[in-house]
Amino acid sequence: MNSQHNGNKPTRIRIIERLVRAVVGWALAVVFCAGFPTPAEAADYSEPFRPQFHFTPATNWMNDPNGMVYYAGEYHLFYQFNPWGDKWGHMSWGHAVTKDLVHWEHLPIALYEENDVMIFSGSAVVDWKNTSGFGRDGKPPLVAIYTGHHTKKPLQNQHIAYSNDRGRTWTKYPGNPVLDIGAKDFRDPKAQWHEPTKRWVMAVSWPLERKVRFYASPNLKEWTHLSDFGPAGAIQGIWECPDLFPLRIEGKGGLEKWVLIVNVGSGAPAGGSGCQYFVGNFDGQRFTLDPGSPKRESELVSQGKALSQASARPAAEAALWADWGRDFYAAVSWNDVPKRDGRRIWLGWMSNWEYANDVPTAPWRSAMSVPRELALRETPDGLRLLQRPVRELGTLRGRHHRFGGGAITEANSWLREQALRGDSLEMTLELDPLAKGDQGLKLFLSSQGATVVGVNWEQGEVYVDRARSGSQAFHPKFPGRASARLPSRERRVKLHLLVDACSLEVMVNDGEQALTTLTFPAAAERGLEFFGPQTDTRVGPVEAWDLKSAWK
Ligand code: FRU
Repeated sequence: MNSQHNGNKPTRIRIIERLVRAVVGWALAVVFCAGFPTPAEAADYSEPFRPQFHFTPATNWMNDPNGMVYYAGEYHLFYQFNPWGDKWGHMSWGHAVTKDLVHWEHLPIALYEENDVMIFSGSAVVDWKNTSGFGRDGKPPLVAIYTGHHTKKPLQNQHIAYSNDRGRTWTKYPGNPVLDIGAKDFRDPKAQWHEPTKRWVMAVSWPLERKVRFYASPNLKEWTHLSDFGPAGAIQGIWECPDLFPLRIEGKGGLEKWVLIVNVGSGAPAGGSGCQYFVGNFDGQRFTLDPGSPKRESELVSQGKALSQASARPAAEAALWADWGRDFYAAVSWNDVPKRDGRRIWLGWMSNWEYANDVPTAPWRSAMSVPRELALRETPDGLRLLQRPVRELGTLRGRHHRFGGGAITEANSWLREQALRGDSLEMTLELDPLAKGDQGLKLFLSSQGATVVGVNWEQGEVYVDRARSGSQAFHPKFPGRASARLPSRERRVKLHLLVDACSLEVMVNDGEQALTTLTFPAAAERGLEFFGPQTDTRVGPVEAWDLKSAWK
């Protein structure tokens, strides 16, 4: 109906029409604001594939973790959320909190898409000194810094919003955007207070340039450009979701180095999206790489080293990878974890952009990894990232099972006796070096196949293979195998497994490497079985725990 047509109508009809429109508009607003089910109401967490100790939204689509900040006894997790569907779209910030990193409480959506601006990824800080002036009654505000993704023009810029009630309700700042370089792709701000320079610093990704841009601000509202980092490391895929933090070096009495996280949209070693990191120094202005960082082939050539020497390593080796599995992306860490705790804790989105929209779960889509504690370790190659599941997950441990070590046949009879729950399980497993062949554990085993975790001593690799496990047909890129280089072919390997309904997280040698993998076994596929080149190949010791649900 056009306005000209409208203009010819008698006044009485126009008034009735306006009234009808007002009533319909009001009804829609009520449905929108009050009628939308809060996630907790909508699901019982016992659907097929529903993780029992990982965070999932009760319904709908989720991707990146956002706005991770600790405040007043709560770890906040905001996340990319579609309020209207189970595929990517209408990006808003969903919200949940946890007091113990294990049990989650769902909260109403924090920030909605509005006025043709979606709420893309970003971070949140506690503005302890009230530099923004958003504080009230002497209490510091929580300030969220996120990317406004404009749906009607090719533009992404940075916005802020604040909360005076422990993150329960949010007000978008009327002066938005607070940072705009006129770019179509410019996103995922991660802000933090930088004490040495007494100002806020922020890392923002410039995806197509393969750069992270650093900015500083006195008040979170005005930002000055400091420097850029990149291209470096893995540059095949676009750069997204950066993080920057100081991290303790294990066994070095509190000595720290800075870590820059850069998630890449494609080109990760196992295919598709993945998470790389850089180790170095941040002086409040600029991030500089540590001398132990891997070199790209072009750098080696410019240093006069033969290409053959460089290309003896797989291309992916030019970068450092936080996780070698297919399903760990957009990982960022919590701001403001209290000093007395001292940990740097993060989690990642347990999926891969290659098939995330198609995974066979309902009524939700996607899970987060478990929260992991980070540290650095000195190795002959330089400083490398360590990741371990947070100790709080230990509170979910139920029945304990122990096998002291022995031949595979004995280990398998032990498995049968124990009747372990193969879908909600924690296990540590030690394997001795073999001259030949591969060995490991089959999970979700049935006559149809299994998800296999193994060590191939000849190839010098640890791997997870889901190529013959459960549901695969939903996407041609889903089947496959992911592997990481074994730190040593001579040293015994310790695998730490977390199995939860549709996922498997493997940490190698107390967190030196991680492989995170989704897998969608049929309901009947819960078998476990050790395998190796011979029936008398030794496995163990093995420790295992049935894990309780964090949602019931
Ligand atoms: C990463 C990402 C971010 C963006 C968000 C949109 O997975 O592409 O760069 O902010 O997802 O949902």
